[in-house]
Amino acid sequence: MSVSLRRLLHLLPSLSSLGSSLEDCSSITLCPRILADTNRDGLVNDLDRDDRRNWTLDRGAIFLPNIGDTAGRCPVVDLAGDPLSNAELSQCHDASGDRLLSPRFAAPLSTSPIPDISPDAIGHIYADSDRVRIFWQHGGVGANITDHFSSLSDEWALVDRQLTFNATSLRNGVTLALDGRELVTDSHTWDGQVRVFFEIEARNETARDFVILKQAPVLLHHHLQRPEAVLSTAPGNNNNPGSTWQTYFIQQLRDTLGVGTNLTLFHQDVDIWTQDFFEPAYASMPGPRGPITLRILLRSAQSTRLAGRQVFTQLRGPGIGGFQPALGSGFGYEEINSGGNIETIPPYTSRVGKVWHNGRAITGKHFGKLPAEAMVQFLQSQGDGGQSPLFLETGWLAVGHVDEFVQFLPSPSETMAPGLGFTIAVADTRSALELLHKVQAAGHGDIPAMSYDGDITPDERTLFLDAEFVLNTTISDLLLDDKLLSINSYAQEHIDDNLAILLKEIPLRDEDILRVPVLFRDVTFSLPATPDGLPPGLDQVKPGGRKVMSLFPNAVNSLVLEKRCIAPKLWGPVIDGKDVLAQAVLDVYAKVNMSVAFIDNYMSHHARGGEVHCGTNTLREMERWWL
Ligand SMILES: *[C@@H]1O[C@H](CO)[C@@H](O)[C@H](O)[C@H]1NC(C)=O
Ligand SMILES: *[C@@H]1O[C@H](CO)[C@@H](O)[C@H](O)[C@H]1NC(C)=O
Ligand SMILES: *[C@@H]1O[C@H](CO)[C@@H](O)[C@H](O)[C@H]1NC(C)=O
Ligand SMILES: *[C@@H]1O[C@H](CO)[C@@H](O)[C@H](O)[C@H]1NC(C)=O
Ligand SMILES: *[C@@H]1O[C@H](CO)[C@@H](O)[C@H](O)[C@H]1NC(C)=O
Ligand SMILES: *[C@@H]1O[C@H](CO)[C@@H](O)[C@H](O)[C@H]1NC(C)=O
Ligand SMILES: *[C@@H]1O[C@H](CO)[C@@H](O)[C@H](O)[C@H]1NC(C)=O
Repeated sequence: MSVSLRRLLHLLPSLSSLGSSLEDCSSITLCPRILADTNRDGLVNDLDRDDRRNWTLDRGAIFLPNIGDTAGRCPVVDLAGDPLSNAELSQCHDASGDRLLSPRFAAPLSTSPIPDISPDAIGHIYADSDRVRIFWQHGGVGANITDHFSSLSDEWALVDRQLTFNATSLRNGVTLALDGRELVTDSHTWDGQVRVFFEIEARNETARDFVILKQAPVLLHHHLQRPEAVLSTAPGNNNNPGSTWQTYFIQQLRDTLGVGTNLTLFHQDVDIWTQDFFEPAYASMPGPRGPITLRILLRSAQSTRLAGRQVFTQLRGPGIGGFQPALGSGFGYEEINSGGNIETIPPYTSRVGKVWHNGRAITGKHFGKLPAEAMVQFLQSQGDGGQSPLFLETGWLAVGHVDEFVQFLPSPSETMAPGLGFTIAVADTRSALELLHKVQAAGHGDIPAMSYDGDITPDERTLFLDAEFVLNTTISDLLLDDKLLSINSYAQEHIDDNLAILLKEIPLRDEDILRVPVLFRDVTFSLPATPDGLPPGLDQVKPGGRKVMSLFPNAVNSLVLEKRCIAPKLWGPVIDGKDVLAQAVLDVYAKVNMSVAFIDNYMSHHARGGEVHCGTNTLREMERWWL
């Protein structure tokens, strides 16, 4: 051990126990100081001097995982033109090399100038983790820190631990930038925190300083955030059996959204379940002109679901990166691991007083089975600002996603859900049956329960088409069908239990809950294998349990865009030219001033096991998450 290092270790405890103000340095001639944006104003300056080593939600420097692909340099095939593996595909990104390709996503740091430093002094700068990269701006003396975010890649060079900064550099101060090479996937291994050391050696002294930074959590979007793009899947070519139906769906979606909304279509795979093969998320850090944000699209933990590769092959680019769940968890294509089984409670304070500043994920278990550990652990590892999931039960649904029965809706008023800003909508069989009883009592028992009048020619993916119900079931037939009534009380019990879990957590009153009329039917049969040849659910039906899906199209499975909702056309009973079920749904959403636009997804989605929400996704505004 060199003398200087021994002296350094000897010095350390006293240095780190010192505060970090100028005065503390007055007794020694060497006074290294390294600053980051500890006060989160987007700049590095003297205001960042205090409390640099205690990272909290209120204070402490933040950096981003720099995993976009700024220059579009990441390949998707190998040299022979063969597709890269999932792991290979996700390994390339802006921080996977040693160049700072995107300075705007790197966090600023600097060492304070030391005007009277001795000419023989040298300095080292290093982090205690190789999960981050540090760069120094060699553009010249007195580099412009405030201009950091618009600097050029060429102005930066990687700081290796062996690199020595000379006295001139130390005298002037070194401008630095730091970014994350990887996501926090398991906080037991790494929680995103790093210490960056600045060490100076002169002839007779050694001293060092450090600052703590933490990687921004990856956050899921929630429905109170403004949508920036709606995503769905392009119909594909004519060989795809569903392409005609998907064409019709996209056309209606486009017309309903209008020209003001960015509708982006995935086009490298015909998987129409755009909600399911990934989950959009983001990370943000302070910048001088507001938050600096990076989209991070979480591919679903479904390793053989090829559509998920489009996160990397189609959307990854400048400011957009992807997360590939680890091997060994989420193998195959099980429905429990779909994005539709992950939704987000908007920000709230729980009944026991825990503040979920950025909301909280919900996900459904299937009785004994949990969603893939790679995804659950990822969500649990995002730290204090994160959204560690609350588990609901979705094993009673044939597909088994939370978005089949629950939805969070903005509710800014003081009457519905006062103070919270949102409320919960749940699928509700009681109000649906009540409505049909009322219609029957008014003398309309003989009219068809369903008014769908379009084509019902099934194709090979049409799993849930019920021609008997579409063509030949009256309201009275339906109300006399004991099996149907009993499967609906089975579904209702599970909805009630799930709502109780939510209400134990979220301070909403029962009268704040929106109950959206929905009926279910029994589909307790094994679903055909997914394209990978594996079953979509390895979990079995619980003894005595059933699997259900919605009978009429299910309005809760709709796309929430601020104050409007794009829902599946219900095709309920029509009386005097009016769909009474649709009217009941409109009335429920009107309680929170939500308008509802219906689009027909009967054949495109409903008969295949989902609705509008399952067939779409949204990229939303990316916000500041820190306090
Ligand atoms: C860090 O901050 C927390 C919260 O403000 C405080 O409780 C704790 O004492 C601080 N720790 C140190 C070492 O300053
Ligand atoms: C530093 O950059 C800021 C923002 O671009 C600019 O306003 C300022 O004039 C620059 N300062 C120097 C010394 O170049
Ligand atoms: C000190 O380092 C800077 C930056 O690398 C370099 O430009 C300068 O020439 C060096 N000065 C001396 C005296 O070596
Ligand atoms: C190092 O040398 C400087 C001047 O050369 C002196 O002022 C200082 O006290 C010395 N420090 C130590 C720790 O010996
Ligand atoms: C629409 O959104 C996509 C996905 O974020 C983006 O790539 C595209 O540039 C946007 N188009 C417009 C016109 O904003
Ligand atoms: C309609 O249902 C009735 C009684 O439930 C049955 O007698 C009749 O054959 C059915 N018709 C069709 C077309 O399924
Ligand atoms: C709906 O809008 C009306 C009129 O703007 C307003 O008075 C009412 O408070 C709103 N209700 C809700 C629940 O937002």
